[in-house]
Amino acid sequence: MELIKKYIEENKERFLNELFDLIRIPSISARPENKEDMFKATEYIKKCLLDAGADHAEVIETKGHPVIYVEKLIDPSAPTILIYGHYDVQPVEPLDEWDSDPFMPEIRDGKIFARGADDDKGQMFMHFKAFELMIQTGTLPCNVKFMIEGEEEIGSPSLKKFCIDNKKKLASDVILISDTTMIAPDIPSITVGLRGLSYMEVEVTGPNRDLHSGLYGGAVMNPINALTKMIASLTDENNYITVNGFYDDVLEVSDGERKEMAKAPFNLEEYKRSIDIDNEVGEKGYSTTERTGIRPSLDVNGIWGGYIGEGAKTVLPSKAYAKISMRLVPNQNSKKIDKLFEDHFKSIAPDGVRVEVKSLHGGEGYVSPIDTIAYQAANRACEESFGKKPIPVRSGGSIPIVSDFEDVLGIKSILLGFGLDSDAIHSPNENFPLFNFYKGIETIPLFYKYFTEMSR
Ligand code: BES
Ligand code: MN
Ligand code: MN
Repeated sequence: MELIKKYIEENKERFLNELFDLIRIPSISARPENKEDMFKATEYIKKCLLDAGADHAEVIETKGHPVIYVEKLIDPSAPTILIYGHYDVQPVEPLDEWDSDPFMPEIRDGKIFARGADDDKGQMFMHFKAFELMIQTGTLPCNVKFMIEGEEEIGSPSLKKFCIDNKKKLASDVILISDTTMIAPDIPSITVGLRGLSYMEVEVTGPNRDLHSGLYGGAVMNPINALTKMIASLTDENNYITVNGFYDDVLEVSDGERKEMAKAPFNLEEYKRSIDIDNEVGEKGYSTTERTGIRPSLDVNGIWGGYIGEGAKTVLPSKAYAKISMRLVPNQNSKKIDKLFEDHFKSIAPDGVRVEVKSLHGGEGYVSPIDTIAYQAANRACEESFGKKPIPVRSGGSIPIVSDFEDVLGIKSILLGFGLDSDAIHSPNENFPLFNFYKGIETIPLFYKYFTEMSR
């Protein structure tokens, strides 16, 4: 522990500068314009891990953005830890809501402000530096592999195939991921559940062209009027989702487990204040943390159509669109939900419009068992670095590839995240506290140590 702290103290400035170099590469996976940046990021990461002491590092092409695979194999009788992370980031719009350039990292109030500062460049980088630390101090206890992808934020379209094609190469005892949050800076947490996702786009078409809203208004179904009514009917007055069959496969969580979950610290007033809302709203009969942790949800992510420029234009539009996502819980299947949604949405279309529905991406949820060596190792590592036992939490977010890891590779993942809800991931002014960054680097080698000890 002292050795770890000393190495971090002596290298902390350099760690930050190296992370900043990675953050300055705008690797936005969703934007074709940034394709070159995706390559730059992979080359940078490859060099970073080779410099840290990896034996082998390669950038592997896929149909989409490349994957970086790295290994350091020191002892065939020791366990192997596979680190997963993603170098791609979300788009930065709306730009004018940022207080500084999203790709020019800046430290304010002890936090790094930039796109990717937390999700996932900052968190992934803790693993790179923990790896360097263990090699440079001669304390690496086991074999390590890295699989770093560039398509997480667009639904990991190539990674499942990559896993199928590279099953042997990726063989390992556990997958360690830092891409989730903790309850508070002084409350370490291990994420034991992730939600699945069904992400749909709908198109509602009325007349074959935009019409004069005076000449036709009142006599022709307006697709935006139709779409908004249809969307409004997708949840009822108790905030239940009305899509036919939607709850059929939802696993109810036992009262005992709900009681356990309720022990995790959560301050509703602080929660409301942090996002400036008067009242929390959600499915009747469940608490706020249950609504995101163990219950599914449905949200409109975007809606457009008609005239949205300056001033007024009297128009009855031909088309209206929306992007609608549903967060799913364990045992719900995203493909089945896609179909239920499509059938339901088409069935509620009023006369005078045609509806098209397509699925953009999706994936399954994940529940991570706590009776594993990995959980025990993470538990001890956090206890030692934070001086407190971590709390198991079910997160509302999704990392769909995690359930594929289990299905394809047969390997379980341990989700040891160091972000905070206040890090504003995907939002303007994304940030990552320096405290969390360094605490992560301190905790990770302890995980390696205990995981290796307990595996023997
Ligand atoms: N790192 C997040 C997921 C996350 C964040 C899980 C915090 C738990 C706590 C990941 O990068 C992400 O944003 N995932 C997407 C899903 C994807 C298919 C676009 C999400 O949850 O929206
Ligand atoms: Mn992420
Ligand atoms: Mn993300």
